[in-house]
Amino acid sequence: MTVRIGIIGLGGMGQAHIARITNVLSGGKVVAVCDLDLTRAKAVAEPLGATVYSEGASLIGAEEVDAIMVTSLGPAHEESVLAAIEAGKPVFCEKPLAPTAAACLRIMAAEEKAGRLLAQVGFMRRYDQSYRQMKAVLDSGEIGEPLMVHCAHRNPTVPQIYTADMAITDTAIHEVDTMRWLLGEEFVTARVDRPKKTRNRFPHLQDPLILILESESGVRVDDEVFVNIQYGYDIRCEAVAETGTVSLADQNKIERRDSHGHHNEVATSHIDRFDGAFTTELQAWIRSVEIGEASGPSSWDGYAAAVVCDAGVKALMGDAGTVAIEMIDRPAFYSNDSSVVVG
Ligand SMILES: NC(=O)c1ccc[n+]([C@@H]2O[C@H](COP(=O)([O-])OP(=O)(O)OC[C@H]3O[C@@H](n4cnc5c(N)ncnc54)[C@H](O)[C@@H]3O)[C@@H](O)[C@H]2O)c1
Repeated sequence: MTVRIGIIGLGGMGQAHIARITNVLSGGKVVAVCDLDLTRAKAVAEPLGATVYSEGASLIGAEEVDAIMVTSLGPAHEESVLAAIEAGKPVFCEKPLAPTAAACLRIMAAEEKAGRLLAQVGFMRRYDQSYRQMKAVLDSGEIGEPLMVHCAHRNPTVPQIYTADMAITDTAIHEVDTMRWLLGEEFVTARVDRPKKTRNRFPHLQDPLILILESESGVRVDDEVFVNIQYGYDIRCEAVAETGTVSLADQNKIERRDSHGHHNEVATSHIDRFDGAFTTELQAWIRSVEIGEASGPSSWDGYAAAVVCDAGVKALMGDAGTVAIEMIDRPAFYSNDSSVVVG
Protein backbone atom coordinates (compact mmCIF):
# COMPACT_ATOMS: atom_id res chain seq x y z
CA MET A 1 0.00 0.00 0.00
CA THR A 2 1.20 3.50 -0.75
CA VAL A 3 0.13 6.01 1.88
CA ARG A 4 -1.29 9.05 0.07
CA ILE A 5 -0.19 12.07 2.07
CA GLY A 6 -1.63 15.59 2.15
CA ILE A 7 0.61 18.27 3.63
CA ILE A 8 -0.40 21.64 5.09
CA GLY A 9 2.37 24.27 5.36
CA LEU A 10 5.05 24.39 2.70
CA GLY A 11 7.89 26.35 4.29
CA GLY A 12 11.30 25.01 5.28
CA MET A 13 10.06 21.96 7.17
CA GLY A 14 7.19 21.13 4.83
CA GLN A 15 9.44 21.15 1.79
CA ALA A 16 12.20 19.19 3.55
CA HIS A 17 9.68 16.51 4.55
CA ILE A 18 8.29 16.39 0.99
CA ALA A 19 11.79 15.92 -0.45
CA ARG A 20 12.45 13.12 2.02
CA ILE A 21 9.17 11.33 1.29
CA THR A 22 9.70 11.69 -2.45
CA ASN A 23 13.41 10.89 -2.74
CA VAL A 24 14.45 8.84 0.27
CA LEU A 25 11.57 7.03 1.99
CA SER A 26 9.38 4.19 0.86
CA GLY A 27 5.65 3.63 1.16
CA GLY A 28 4.44 7.24 0.95
CA LYS A 29 3.52 9.73 -1.77
CA VAL A 30 2.61 13.39 -1.42
CA VAL A 31 -0.63 13.77 -3.40
CA ALA A 32 -2.02 17.03 -1.98
CA VAL A 33 -0.55 20.28 -0.68
CA CYS A 34 -1.85 23.45 0.95
CA ASP A 35 -0.29 26.75 1.98
CA LEU A 36 -1.60 30.23 2.67
CA ASP A 37 0.81 31.29 -0.07
CA LEU A 38 -0.89 29.90 -3.17
CA THR A 39 2.02 30.69 -5.47
CA ARG A 40 4.32 28.67 -3.24
CA ALA A 41 1.78 25.83 -3.11
CA LYS A 42 1.55 25.69 -6.91
CA ALA A 43 5.35 25.69 -7.28
CA VAL A 44 5.71 22.84 -4.78
CA ALA A 45 2.82 20.82 -6.27
CA GLU A 46 3.87 21.02 -9.89
CA PRO A 47 6.86 18.61 -9.93
CA LEU A 48 5.00 16.20 -7.65
CA GLY A 49 1.82 16.16 -9.74
CA ALA A 50 0.00 16.92 -6.45
CA THR A 51 -3.33 18.71 -6.10
CA VAL A 52 -3.28 22.20 -4.60
CA TYR A 53 -5.91 22.97 -1.95
CA SER A 54 -6.44 26.56 -0.85
CA GLU A 55 -7.82 25.45 2.52
CA GLY A 56 -6.53 22.86 4.96
CA ALA A 57 -10.07 21.61 5.66
CA SER A 58 -10.69 20.60 2.04
CA LEU A 59 -7.33 18.83 1.82
CA ILE A 60 -8.07 16.91 5.02
CA GLY A 61 -11.51 15.87 3.75
CA ALA A 62 -10.30 14.85 0.28
CA GLU A 63 -10.88 11.23 -0.64
CA GLU A 64 -7.47 11.02 -2.34
CA VAL A 65 -5.73 11.74 1.01
CA ASP A 66 -5.09 8.90 3.51
CA ALA A 67 -2.95 10.75 6.06
CA ILE A 68 -2.07 14.36 6.91
CA MET A 69 1.15 16.17 7.72
CA VAL A 70 0.89 19.52 9.48
CA THR A 71 3.95 21.70 8.94
CA SER A 72 2.38 25.14 9.23
CA LEU A 73 3.36 27.36 12.14
CA GLY A 74 2.47 26.38 15.73
CA PRO A 75 -0.64 28.57 16.22
CA ALA A 76 -2.25 26.98 13.12
CA HIS A 77 -1.61 23.38 14.20
CA GLU A 78 -4.63 22.84 16.46
CA GLU A 79 -7.23 23.55 13.78
CA SER A 80 -5.65 21.13 11.28
CA VAL A 81 -4.97 18.37 13.82
CA LEU A 82 -8.54 18.56 15.15
CA ALA A 83 -9.94 18.39 11.61
CA ALA A 84 -7.75 15.36 10.80
CA ILE A 85 -8.90 13.58 13.96
CA GLU A 86 -12.51 14.43 13.15
CA ALA A 87 -12.00 12.89 9.69
CA GLY A 88 -10.47 9.77 11.32
CA LYS A 89 -7.15 10.26 9.47
CA PRO A 90 -3.68 9.76 10.97
CA VAL A 91 -1.84 13.04 11.37
CA PHE A 92 1.84 13.83 11.80
CA CYS A 93 2.19 17.29 13.35
CA GLU A 94 5.49 19.14 13.57
CA LYS A 95 6.35 20.42 17.04
CA PRO A 96 4.75 22.05 18.90
CA LEU A 97 1.53 20.04 18.82
CA ALA A 98 -0.03 23.37 19.80
CA PRO A 99 1.47 26.42 21.51
CA THR A 100 -0.32 25.96 24.86
CA ALA A 101 -1.18 23.06 27.13
CA ALA A 102 -4.86 24.05 26.98
CA ALA A 103 -4.88 23.60 23.20
CA CYS A 104 -3.13 20.22 23.52
CA LEU A 105 -5.82 19.11 25.98
CA ARG A 106 -8.49 19.90 23.36
CA ILE A 107 -6.62 17.70 20.88
CA MET A 108 -6.36 14.88 23.44
CA ALA A 109 -10.10 15.14 24.15
CA ALA A 110 -10.89 14.87 20.42
CA GLU A 111 -8.59 11.88 20.01
CA GLU A 112 -10.08 10.13 23.00
CA LYS A 113 -13.56 10.74 21.55
CA ALA A 114 -12.40 9.26 18.23
CA GLY A 115 -11.25 6.21 20.23
CA ARG A 116 -7.92 5.85 18.36
CA LEU A 117 -4.45 7.30 18.63
CA LEU A 118 -4.23 9.32 15.43
CA ALA A 119 -1.69 12.07 16.10
CA GLN A 120 2.11 11.85 16.17
CA VAL A 121 4.22 14.86 17.19
CA GLY A 122 7.47 15.67 15.37
CA PHE A 123 9.86 15.27 18.28
CA MET A 124 12.50 13.78 16.00
CA ARG A 125 15.37 13.68 18.48
CA ARG A 126 13.90 10.48 19.93
CA TYR A 127 14.94 8.91 16.61
CA ASP A 128 18.51 10.27 16.65
CA GLN A 129 21.09 7.48 16.94
CA SER A 130 23.28 9.32 19.48
CA TYR A 131 20.41 10.17 21.81
CA ARG A 132 19.17 6.59 21.51
CA GLN A 133 22.59 5.27 22.47
CA MET A 134 22.67 7.64 25.45
CA LYS A 135 19.26 6.33 26.52
CA ALA A 136 20.40 2.73 26.20
CA VAL A 137 23.38 3.45 28.50
CA LEU A 138 21.20 5.15 31.11
CA ASP A 139 18.48 2.48 30.91
CA SER A 140 21.11 -0.26 31.39
CA GLY A 141 21.88 1.12 34.87
CA GLU A 142 25.60 0.52 34.27
CA ILE A 143 26.56 4.03 35.38
CA GLY A 144 23.93 4.25 38.09
CA GLU A 145 21.05 6.70 38.35
CA PRO A 146 21.20 9.95 36.36
CA LEU A 147 21.55 12.96 38.67
CA MET A 148 22.05 15.94 36.34
CA VAL A 149 21.83 16.63 32.62
CA HIS A 150 23.59 19.57 30.95
CA CYS A 151 22.14 20.54 27.57
CA ALA A 152 22.85 23.26 25.04
CA HIS A 153 20.72 24.29 22.07
CA ARG A 154 22.60 26.76 19.90
CA ASN A 155 21.29 28.15 16.63
CA PRO A 156 23.30 30.35 14.27
CA THR A 157 20.55 32.96 14.19
CA VAL A 158 16.78 33.49 14.16
CA PRO A 159 14.56 35.91 12.20
CA GLN A 160 13.18 39.13 13.67
CA ILE A 161 9.71 37.59 14.01
CA TYR A 162 11.12 35.21 16.64
CA THR A 163 9.57 36.40 19.90
CA ALA A 164 11.07 36.11 23.39
CA ASP A 165 8.78 33.24 24.46
CA MET A 166 9.83 31.18 21.41
CA ALA A 167 13.19 30.48 23.09
CA ILE A 168 11.12 28.15 25.28
CA THR A 169 8.09 27.15 23.17
CA ASP A 170 9.89 26.71 19.86
CA THR A 171 13.50 25.95 20.79
CA ALA A 172 13.85 24.50 24.31
CA ILE A 173 10.74 22.37 23.67
CA HIS A 174 13.07 19.89 21.94
CA GLU A 175 15.14 19.41 25.10
CA VAL A 176 11.95 19.28 27.20
CA ASP A 177 10.62 16.35 25.20
CA THR A 178 13.97 14.63 24.81
CA MET A 179 14.69 14.85 28.55
CA ARG A 180 11.23 13.45 29.48
CA TRP A 181 11.96 10.55 27.16
CA LEU A 182 15.59 10.10 28.21
CA LEU A 183 14.87 10.14 31.94
CA GLY A 184 11.44 8.46 31.75
CA GLU A 185 9.89 10.91 34.17
CA GLU A 186 8.06 14.22 34.28
CA PHE A 187 9.29 17.61 35.43
CA VAL A 188 7.93 19.36 38.52
CA THR A 189 9.54 22.82 38.46
CA ALA A 190 10.97 25.28 35.93
CA ARG A 191 13.21 28.29 36.41
CA VAL A 192 15.00 30.59 33.96
CA ASP A 193 18.43 32.15 34.55
CA ARG A 194 19.35 35.19 32.47
CA PRO A 195 23.06 35.56 31.66
CA LYS A 196 24.61 38.61 30.02
CA LYS A 197 22.95 39.14 26.61
CA THR A 198 24.74 38.80 23.29
CA ARG A 199 25.22 42.05 21.34
CA ASN A 200 24.78 40.16 18.12
CA ARG A 201 21.02 40.26 17.59
CA PHE A 202 17.68 41.54 18.77
CA PRO A 203 17.40 43.35 22.09
CA HIS A 204 13.83 42.01 22.55
CA LEU A 205 15.26 38.55 23.24
CA GLN A 206 16.85 37.19 26.39
CA ASP A 207 19.66 35.49 24.49
CA PRO A 208 21.21 33.35 25.82
CA LEU A 209 19.05 31.98 28.62
CA ILE A 210 19.25 28.88 30.78
CA LEU A 211 16.12 26.87 31.45
CA ILE A 212 16.46 24.81 34.63
CA LEU A 213 14.09 21.92 35.21
CA GLU A 214 13.75 19.54 38.12
CA SER A 215 12.25 16.09 37.64
CA GLU A 216 9.97 14.10 39.94
CA SER A 217 12.95 12.20 41.37
CA GLY A 218 15.09 15.35 41.67
CA VAL A 219 17.20 15.12 38.50
CA ARG A 220 18.33 18.64 37.56
CA VAL A 221 18.39 19.55 33.87
CA ASP A 222 19.93 22.78 32.65
CA ASP A 223 19.43 23.86 29.05
CA GLU A 224 21.44 26.70 27.57
CA VAL A 225 19.33 28.21 24.78
CA PHE A 226 21.40 30.51 22.59
CA VAL A 227 19.72 31.27 19.29
CA ASN A 228 22.17 33.76 17.79
CA ILE A 229 25.50 32.09 18.35
CA GLN A 230 26.58 32.76 14.76
CA TYR A 231 29.02 29.86 14.32
CA GLY A 232 26.62 26.99 13.69
CA TYR A 233 23.88 24.69 14.96
CA ASP A 234 25.30 22.98 18.01
CA ILE A 235 23.36 20.55 20.15
CA ARG A 236 25.00 19.26 23.31
CA CYS A 237 23.90 16.94 26.03
CA GLU A 238 25.78 15.33 28.90
CA ALA A 239 24.07 13.18 31.52
CA VAL A 240 25.93 12.85 34.81
CA ALA A 241 25.08 9.66 36.67
CA GLU A 242 26.31 8.14 39.93
CA THR A 243 29.39 6.40 38.54
CA GLY A 244 29.84 7.82 35.06
CA THR A 245 28.68 10.23 32.41
CA VAL A 246 27.30 9.80 28.92
CA SER A 247 27.12 12.52 26.32
CA LEU A 248 26.29 13.15 22.68
CA ALA A 249 29.26 12.75 20.40
CA ASP A 250 30.40 16.01 18.89
CA GLN A 251 28.19 16.87 15.91
CA ASN A 252 28.26 13.39 14.37
CA LYS A 253 30.96 14.65 11.99
CA ILE A 254 34.39 13.38 11.02
CA GLU A 255 37.42 14.76 12.79
CA ARG A 256 40.49 15.95 10.94
CA ARG A 257 44.05 16.39 12.22
CA ASP A 258 46.66 18.13 10.09
CA SER A 259 49.33 20.81 10.27
CA HIS A 260 46.58 23.41 10.97
CA GLY A 261 45.42 21.53 14.01
CA HIS A 262 42.52 19.29 14.96
CA HIS A 263 39.03 20.16 13.68
CA ASN A 264 35.65 18.81 12.86
CA GLU A 265 32.83 20.42 10.91
CA VAL A 266 30.00 22.12 12.72
CA ALA A 267 26.41 21.48 11.60
CA THR A 268 24.65 24.48 10.14
CA SER A 269 21.00 23.66 10.81
CA HIS A 270 18.55 21.17 12.28
CA ILE A 271 18.18 19.60 8.83
CA ASP A 272 21.91 18.97 8.70
CA ARG A 273 22.38 17.75 12.30
CA PHE A 274 19.24 15.61 12.50
CA ASP A 275 19.09 14.30 8.94
CA GLY A 276 19.10 10.67 10.05
CA ALA A 277 16.57 11.30 12.80
CA PHE A 278 14.09 12.92 10.39
CA THR A 279 14.45 10.00 7.99
CA THR A 280 13.87 7.38 10.68
CA GLU A 281 11.01 9.39 12.18
CA LEU A 282 9.06 9.82 8.95
CA GLN A 283 9.68 6.28 7.76
CA ALA A 284 8.33 4.99 11.07
CA TRP A 285 5.27 7.25 10.75
CA ILE A 286 4.50 6.05 7.20
CA ARG A 287 4.91 2.46 8.38
CA SER A 288 2.60 3.09 11.34
CA VAL A 289 -0.08 4.45 8.99
CA GLU A 290 0.32 1.41 6.70
CA ILE A 291 -0.18 -1.05 9.53
CA GLY A 292 -2.78 1.09 11.34
CA GLU A 293 -0.84 1.20 14.62
CA ALA A 294 0.25 4.49 16.15
CA SER A 295 3.85 4.80 17.27
CA GLY A 296 6.13 7.62 18.30
CA PRO A 297 5.46 10.71 20.43
CA SER A 298 1.73 11.08 21.03
CA SER A 299 -0.62 13.96 21.85
CA TRP A 300 0.13 13.17 25.49
CA ASP A 301 3.80 13.91 24.81
CA GLY A 302 2.79 17.09 22.99
CA TYR A 303 0.72 18.11 26.03
CA ALA A 304 3.40 17.21 28.59
CA ALA A 305 6.02 19.26 26.73
CA ALA A 306 3.59 22.18 26.43
CA VAL A 307 2.88 22.20 30.19
CA VAL A 308 6.60 22.45 30.91
CA CYS A 309 6.97 25.20 28.29
CA ASP A 310 4.01 27.14 29.76
CA ALA A 311 5.84 27.12 33.12
CA GLY A 312 9.12 28.05 31.43
CA VAL A 313 7.50 31.03 29.70
CA LYS A 314 5.98 32.14 33.01
CA ALA A 315 9.43 31.94 34.60
CA LEU A 316 10.99 33.85 31.71
CA MET A 317 8.43 36.61 31.36
CA GLY A 318 7.74 37.58 34.93
CA ASP A 319 9.62 37.68 38.13
CA ALA A 320 8.10 34.35 38.97
CA GLY A 321 11.28 32.61 40.19
CA THR A 322 10.79 28.87 40.32
CA VAL A 323 7.45 27.88 38.79
CA ALA A 324 5.61 24.67 39.72
CA ILE A 325 4.62 22.49 36.77
CA GLU A 326 1.12 21.12 37.18
CA MET A 327 0.08 18.34 34.85
CA ILE A 328 -3.09 16.29 34.67
CA ASP A 329 -2.67 12.59 35.41
CA ARG A 330 -1.87 10.58 32.31
CA PRO A 331 -5.24 9.34 30.95
CA ALA A 332 -5.66 5.59 30.61
CA PHE A 333 -6.23 6.18 26.88
CA TYR A 334 -2.55 7.15 26.60
CA SER A 335 -1.28 4.47 28.95
CA ASN A 336 0.21 2.30 26.19
CA ASP A 337 3.61 3.84 25.88
CA SER A 338 3.45 5.29 22.40
CA SER A 339 6.86 6.85 22.93
CA VAL A 340 8.49 3.55 22.06
CA VAL A 341 10.09 4.08 18.71
CA VAL A 342 9.69 1.63 15.83
CA GLY A 343 12.81 0.76 13.88
N1 LIG B 1 11.54 19.34 14.17
C1 LIG B 1 12.33 20.39 14.02
O1 LIG B 1 13.52 20.36 14.31
C2 LIG B 1 11.76 21.65 13.44
C3 LIG B 1 12.63 22.58 12.87
C4 LIG B 1 12.09 23.75 12.32
C5 LIG B 1 10.73 23.96 12.36
N2 LIG B 1 9.92 23.04 12.98
C6 LIG B 1 8.48 23.25 13.08
O2 LIG B 1 7.90 23.08 11.79
C7 LIG B 1 6.81 23.97 11.63
C8 LIG B 1 7.04 24.79 10.35
O3 LIG B 1 8.25 25.52 10.50
P1 LIG B 1 9.01 26.12 9.22
O4 LIG B 1 10.38 26.40 9.67
O5 LIG B 1 8.78 25.25 8.03
O6 LIG B 1 8.21 27.50 9.04
P2 LIG B 1 8.10 28.38 7.73
O7 LIG B 1 7.73 29.75 8.17
O8 LIG B 1 9.29 28.19 6.85
O9 LIG B 1 6.85 27.75 6.94
C9 LIG B 1 5.54 27.75 7.43
C10 LIG B 1 4.60 27.65 6.22
O10 LIG B 1 3.28 27.42 6.71
C11 LIG B 1 2.39 28.24 5.96
N3 LIG B 1 1.19 28.43 6.76
C12 LIG B 1 1.09 29.11 7.93
N4 LIG B 1 -0.17 29.00 8.41
C13 LIG B 1 -0.86 28.23 7.53
C14 LIG B 1 -2.19 27.77 7.47
N5 LIG B 1 -3.10 28.08 8.40
N6 LIG B 1 -2.55 26.98 6.42
C15 LIG B 1 -1.64 26.66 5.46
N7 LIG B 1 -0.37 27.10 5.46
C16 LIG B 1 0.02 27.86 6.48
C17 LIG B 1 3.18 29.50 5.67
O11 LIG B 1 2.64 30.22 4.58
C18 LIG B 1 4.57 28.93 5.38
O12 LIG B 1 4.71 28.59 4.02
C19 LIG B 1 6.74 24.81 12.91
O13 LIG B 1 5.79 24.26 13.77
C20 LIG B 1 8.13 24.67 13.49
O14 LIG B 1 8.16 24.81 14.90
C21 LIG B 1 10.42 21.89 13.48
